[in-house]
Amino acid sequence: MSKPTPPDDSLQRQRENADPDESVRPLPWFLVMFLGAMAMWGGFYIYITPSGEDSAYGDQRTMETLRPPVPVAGGGTALVDGKLIYGGKCAACHQATGMGVAGVFPPLAASEWVTGDEKILTHILLHGIEGEIEVKGVVYKGVMPAWQMMSDAELAGVMTYIRGEWGNKAAPITADTVKAEREATKARTTPYQGGAELKPAS
Ligand code: HEC
Repeated sequence: MSKPTPPDDSLQRQRENADPDESVRPLPWFLVMFLGAMAMWGGFYIYITPSGEDSAYGDQRTMETLRPPVPVAGGGTALVDGKLIYGGKCAACHQATGMGVAGVFPPLAASEWVTGDEKILTHILLHGIEGEIEVKGVVYKGVMPAWQMMSDAELAGVMTYIRGEWGNKAAPITADTVKAEREATKARTTPYQGGAELKPAS
C-alpha cells in the first residue's frame, strides 16, 4: 500500500505573501555624528561650567523680583517692601512702633536723624554707629550694626518706610542715592563714632 499523496498546495503557496522578515538597518551616519557631537558638547559644557560656587549660574531672581510692587507712603509703588525689611531687621531693636526701647534703642518715630538729611541717614545705615548719639534730646550710647549687605533698593525701601511711618513725613530715598553714598563712603570700614562724627559727614 502506497502512502496517499499529499494534496498539491503549490498554487495555494503562490497566492500567499512571503513571511515578513527583519532586515538590517544601521542608524544613519549623520544621526550617529549628531549624537556624538551632542555628547561631546555636553561633556565640554559640564567641564567649563564652574560648580560649587554661588548660584550665579542658576535662577537669578531674588525675592525683590518675585514680590509684587508695594505702595509707598507719598505715592507710587516700589519693588521692595520696606515694611517687611523693617519687621525682619530693625523692629527687634527699634520696635514695630518705631519708639525704640527707652535708654537702650533710640526711637525712629520723629527722630531728627530719620527725617533729616537723607545722606546722613544713608551713612548711618551703611556703616552703623557706636558711641554717643542724641535723639530727641536723649543721649544713647549703644551699638548699631552696619547694613551694607542690603542692596541699594532694599536700603532705599526701608529708609523710605521709616521716613513715612509713625507720623514721619520726609521725602522717599531712591536706590540711586544709596548707590552714590555707598560709593562716596566706600573707604570707611568702621562704624561712625556717634552723632558728632555724623553731623559734618553730610
Ligand atoms: C541690634 C539692635 C539694632 C538693630 C537691629 C537696628 N538698630 Fe538702629 N540703632 C540701634 C542703636 C543701639 C542705635 C544708637 C547707636 C548709638 O547709640 O551709637 C541705633 C540708631 C539708629 C538710627 C539713628 C538714631 C535714631 O534713632 O534715629 C537710625 C536711623 C537707625 N538706628 C535705623 C535702623 C534701621 C532702619 C534698622 C534696620 C535696618 C536698624 N536701625 C536696626 C540698634 C539697632
